[in-house]
Amino acid sequence: MQCTRIGLDLSKDHGDALFLVLTKESLKSKIFKQIDAKYAGLLGKAIERHQFKGKQNESLNVEVNSQYRHLVLLGWENNKSNDRFTEINNYRKLGNLINEMSVKYKCEQVTLYAGNIDLRDVNAKALFEGLYLADYEFLKYKSKSEPKSTSLKKLTIASKQKLATNLTSQVEVVCQATKLARDLVNTPPNDCKPADLVKQAKQVAKAGKLKIEIYDRAALKRIGANTLLAVSLGSSEAPYLIKMVYKPNRATKKVISIVGKGVTFDSGGLSIKTGSGMETMKMDMAGAAAVIACMQAMAQLKPKHEVRAYIPTTENMINGQATRPGDIVKSFSGKTVEILNTDAEGRLILADALALAIKEKCSCIVDLATLTGACMVALGVDYAGLFASTDKLAQDLINAGNLAGERLWRLPLAPEYEKLIKSDVADIKNIGGPYGGAITGALFLKEFVDEKTPWAHLDIAGPAFSDSNKDYIKKGAVGFGVRTLINFIMQG
Ligand code: BES
Ligand code: ZN
Ligand code: ZN
Repeated sequence: MQCTRIGLDLSKDHGDALFLVLTKESLKSKIFKQIDAKYAGLLGKAIERHQFKGKQNESLNVEVNSQYRHLVLLGWENNKSNDRFTEINNYRKLGNLINEMSVKYKCEQVTLYAGNIDLRDVNAKALFEGLYLADYEFLKYKSKSEPKSTSLKKLTIASKQKLATNLTSQVEVVCQATKLARDLVNTPPNDCKPADLVKQAKQVAKAGKLKIEIYDRAALKRIGANTLLAVSLGSSEAPYLIKMVYKPNRATKKVISIVGKGVTFDSGGLSIKTGSGMETMKMDMAGAAAVIACMQAMAQLKPKHEVRAYIPTTENMINGQATRPGDIVKSFSGKTVEILNTDAEGRLILADALALAIKEKCSCIVDLATLTGACMVALGVDYAGLFASTDKLAQDLINAGNLAGERLWRLPLAPEYEKLIKSDVADIKNIGGPYGGAITGALFLKEFVDEKTPWAHLDIAGPAFSDSNKDYIKKGAVGFGVRTLINFIMQG
C-alpha cells in the first residue's frame, strides 16, 4: 500500500472515498459545516436521518458525486482513559474499519481526513497496523479460489501532523511477521510438521542472513535433550531443536533469548485428548511461529542487541514406543522428571530448550507457549498469562504488549505451590494438582532457568487462536506475541 500525507486542504485531492473521522463535538464545528456545504447539505441530512452520533466505531456511508464516490463518516471519541492499551488499540480498530468499508464499497484509493485525531508516532503506527492486519485471509486450501476482496492500494492522509519517516515500512515489517505467524499456525498439521518448521526457519534465516543451527534426533541424543525426545517417541516424525541467531553489526553484551513451544500437533499422547479437544491442536506451535516470525522482523529492523531463538519442535502422538505415564527421564539440565501426564508435553520440550539457553548464557529469556487450558479458564481468550522472575521484565513486557495491542496479565510464580510438582520418585513431576494449572506449569519451567537470568513465560493458549472475527483479528490464528516480542526487543 502506498501512503502519502497532505495538509487539511482537500481541494486538489480525489479518490474512491473520503473518510471523515468525527467526534461528537466536531459534528457541530465550523470545518464540518464548510465540508457539508460543499455537498449541498447532504451530510447533515444523512446524519439526521441515520442518527449518526459520532460514537466510537460508528460508521455512515453517504454516496456523493464529487471528487470522491463515497463519503464515509467514522465516529471517534477522544476520551483519554487511564488504559493505554485501549487508547492505542482504538487506532488499530479505526484502521480495521477503514479497511472494512473500503472492501464493502470497493475502494482502492481513499483519503482519511484526520483533523480530529492525534496521529503522533504510536497512534499512526497502530492505525496502519489495523489496516494491514485486517487485510488477512487464509485461502491456500480452498479449491475454488474465492474472489479476493478488493484491498486498498493508496491511502492519503489529510492531517496537520507530519508522519514519522519510515513509518509505513516499519509497520509493514511487523505486519508481515504477524502474517507469517498466522499462516504457520493456520496451516494444517499434515503440512506443518517439525521438519516443515525447520524448513521455514531456514528460509527466514537465509533471507535475513541469520545464523541457524538445527539439532536433529542424533544431536538431541548426544546433548541429552531427553525430555524433548520423550515427547517425540510416539510419533514417526523426527523432533528438532532449531536455534536462530541475530547479531547486530556493533558488538554488544546484551543477549535476549526467546523460546517458543513448537508442538505441531498435540493429541495428548497416551493421556489422550477428547476428539473436540484435538480439533484446534494444530495451533500448539503458535509460540514457535511467533518466535520464527519475530526473527524475520529482527533481520529487517536490526535491533542493537543480540537475539537468540530456541525452538523445540515435535509432534505429540501415540504408537507402541510412546512415552507412558510414569516414565522417568533425565532432562538436559540433569534434573529427573516423572512424566505422569503425557498431555503436559509443552513444559517437557521447553525444559530442554530453556536449559540450553541458560547454559549458553544470556541477559534475559522470554518463552511463549500454548501451555495450559487452565490459563484460558483463569483469563479467558483475550489475555495471555504472564509469569516473570523480575518486576522489571514483567513491566517491560506489559508495556510492549500495550503498544502491540496484546494483553498480558501477570500471574504469580507462587512459592507456596512449588511442592505440588515434587515427585515421590524423581526430582519433579510434570503435573501439579487440580487447581492453579497455569501456575504449576510455569513453576515447572522455572526449574530449568537459573536465579540470575531474568526470565518470563507467556502462556498464550487463550489468545493464540480466535474462534471468531474480532476487529483486525480474524477467525483462526492471531499471530499473538509477535508484536509484543518485537516491541520488547526494540525498546530494551
Ligand atoms: N496444548 C495444550 C494446552 C492448550 C489447551 C492449548 C487448549 C490451547 C488450547 C497442553 O499441552 C495441554 O494439553 N495441557 C494440559 C496440561 C495438563 C495435563 C496438566 C491441559 O491444559 O489440560
Ligand atoms: Zn498437551
Ligand atoms: Zn500442548
